[in-house]
Amino acid sequence: MATPLYLPVILGTPRQGRRSEHAARFVLEQTQKRAGVETELIDVRELPLAFNDAGEQIKIPAFSDQMKRCDGLIIVTPEYNHGYPGLLKHALDTNLEEYIHKAVGICGVSAGSFGGTRVIEHLLPVMRELGLVTIFTDVNFGKVQDVFDEHGGLRDESFVRRVNGFLDELIWMARVLRHGRENIPPA
Ligand SMILES: Cc1cc2nc3c(=O)[nH]c(=O)nc-3n(C[C@H](O)[C@H](O)[C@H](O)COP(=O)(O)O)c2cc1C
Repeated sequence: MATPLYLPVILGTPRQGRRSEHAARFVLEQTQKRAGVETELIDVRELPLAFNDAGEQIKIPAFSDQMKRCDGLIIVTPEYNHGYPGLLKHALDTNLEEYIHKAVGICGVSAGSFGGTRVIEHLLPVMRELGLVTIFTDVNFGKVQDVFDEHGGLRDESFVRRVNGFLDELIWMARVLRHGRENIPPA
């Protein structure tokens, strides 16, 4: 039996009352159902981040180990003024080599109807600079207040299909890249 893929879900905002948490927990739940995949929630609110420096100088050993172990990342992020939360970027910047040649998929969350398409577009060049390999399927939790009730219960069942299509693609890419990392020496 191959080692399970490890695909943690990063929740990208610390905001009180964040609806992105409903989306992240739902994506986590769907990922947990996949055979041969291990996952867990990484909440930026819980990371002991320093603010007197940036980048690898403030690496958090436990987070760095999770990034080293992972075969891919699922980022669930709200759109804040068409961009990504500063804390998400601050956390991601603490690692670099850990991410190289690993898959990443992004789920955007917004109160507006575009479902975080703009934050996803803005994150793509960041992902590339970190060495991550993006998939071409996203999940857009638009009008998130209509997708989940206030307790995080799913109101819109179409998201089961959408998240599973996203996971199909991410798992495929994570498998391909793991095969490459393990079998094809870098040029
Ligand atoms: C600082 C800030 C900026 C925001 N900017 C946008 C935006 O550009 N577009 C949008 O659709 N919603 C915007 N929103 C609303 C969020 O999309 C909304 O709060 C949604 O529930 C997802 O964010 P949350 O996880 O913080 O709840 C913004 C919210 C905050 C707190």
